[in-house]
Amino acid sequence: MVKKLKTRLLRSRIRRLEDRIYYLESFLPIYLESLEKKRDQRLRRLHDKHKRILLPLEIKALTDREYQEYMTRERINALKEKYRLKERALLHRFSKKNQDDLKDRKLKDLKSELERTIDDLQEKYARQSRNLSIDDQVRLYHTKRNELNTSFEKRKKEVDHHVKVAYEKEESKRKKQIKTLNQKLQEAQDDLKSLIENNASLDLKEDLSELDILKIKNLTMMFGGLKAVNDLSFSVKKGEVFGLIGPNGAGKTTVFNCITQFYKPNAGNMYYRNRNQEVIDLNDYAVHNVIRQGIVRTFQNVELILELSVIDNMLIGSHSAYKTNFFAHLVHNRRLKREERIERAKATKILTDLNLFAYRDAYPIGLPYGILKKIELARTLMTNPNLIILDEPAAGLNDAETKELAKTIKKIQKDYDATIFLVEHDMQLVMDICDTICAINFGKKIAIGTPSEVKGNKAVQEAYLGGE
Ligand SMILES: Nc1ncnc2c1ncn2[C@@H]1O[C@H](COP(=O)(O)OP(=O)(O)OP(=O)(O)O)[C@@H](O)[C@H]1O
Ligand SMILES: [Mg+2]
Repeated sequence: MVKKLKTRLLRSRIRRLEDRIYYLESFLPIYLESLEKKRDQRLRRLHDKHKRILLPLEIKALTDREYQEYMTRERINALKEKYRLKERALLHRFSKKNQDDLKDRKLKDLKSELERTIDDLQEKYARQSRNLSIDDQVRLYHTKRNELNTSFEKRKKEVDHHVKVAYEKEESKRKKQIKTLNQKLQEAQDDLKSLIENNASLDLKEDLSELDILKIKNLTMMFGGLKAVNDLSFSVKKGEVFGLIGPNGAGKTTVFNCITQFYKPNAGNMYYRNRNQEVIDLNDYAVHNVIRQGIVRTFQNVELILELSVIDNMLIGSHSAYKTNFFAHLVHNRRLKREERIERAKATKILTDLNLFAYRDAYPIGLPYGILKKIELARTLMTNPNLIILDEPAAGLNDAETKELAKTIKKIQKDYDATIFLVEHDMQLVMDICDTICAINFGKKIAIGTPSEVKGNKAVQEAYLGGE
């Protein structure tokens, strides 16, 4: 018993160390990006400043004719902008009134006033001459421009150097940290290994076939006298899409709730292979620790927070992965900010992958249901899941949305190297995307196999005819 607890503690230590390493490694490119952004901003500001210095000199170096044209053009543009604002104010003022005649008259007045002013301007500048010695001015302009260019180049070199130095400093600091953490990780892994090797009863490797990620064995869950799940056994292969089907009330959601330890089953084992290829019995873990073993689920209805933007909902999805402790949250320190930046970059990447980037800053209210479901799926990826459990992902979707969902699920299976375990009523979807299907009724297994095998099974057909 003590030994079992010890393996659990070691495992959570290993997870923590892995997460810290992950954060440190992800941080470097993001840090470089932010340094470069700052540098570009600085250089842009400098460039603008130089332009402001040069512009008056440039104007002075214009010939009379060029000067007239330039001034007229600039003034006309400014006038037009002013006119545009006035027109907008006018339209706004009349937007709720029913006085189209008056509005049209005012607009016409405004327009003719603009035209008159433009004519005046053109006349005014056409007569202006400045009696400047253009050659001197041109020379002055060029000298100044060369001077500023040189100083800009010099500054650019300095700033580039600064970026390089700052990055290298950060890099060597982080690399050192990563090295120490890796050593600690190795030690913890060795400890765990020797603990398991010396206690045969802790080694669950034999209980789960190499190809499987999950094995439910003799699972029973009772609610009072009702056996919602009755001595159920089946295995899910690593990397497949596995479907659990059955009529309403068959016990599907209950199976999910047992896997995630939301319910503690009355009997049975649930062997699971985590990301480190270790076999654990989920019954040994509390509900909040199951997610840290790489299992994530969605619920039968959409569970997004409506007051938060899509990206913030994604960040909540990763919340369990935030490594900073409570104190850090309290003072919102640098490490927390750093982790948030990493999570934001990750969320953006996932949204882009799943064609959801356009909704990144939108709020869930008013978005189509199909999109909301996809966002929920995207959110599950924030925890780097190993096994994704979906409870009726297609419920409430129309045909086109269901097709899109099927594509997304397949994409996740492929690109994110995840096993997907779903409950679904939409038979077309189940048949299309599942590699294996298990049918249950009254908490008992009635068939398991490929989609066509299960579809042709008599017991399944009867359960569905009888149940509907
Ligand atoms: N918390 C609970 N307390 C009591 N009975 C429950 C509880 N949860 C589920 N049940 C019962 O267990 C049985 C299985 O329910 P479950 O929700 O697992 O079915 P399901 O297969 O998910 O059905 P559906 O397709 O309608 O979602 C049902 O008879 C249900 O009434
Ligand atoms: Mg259900």
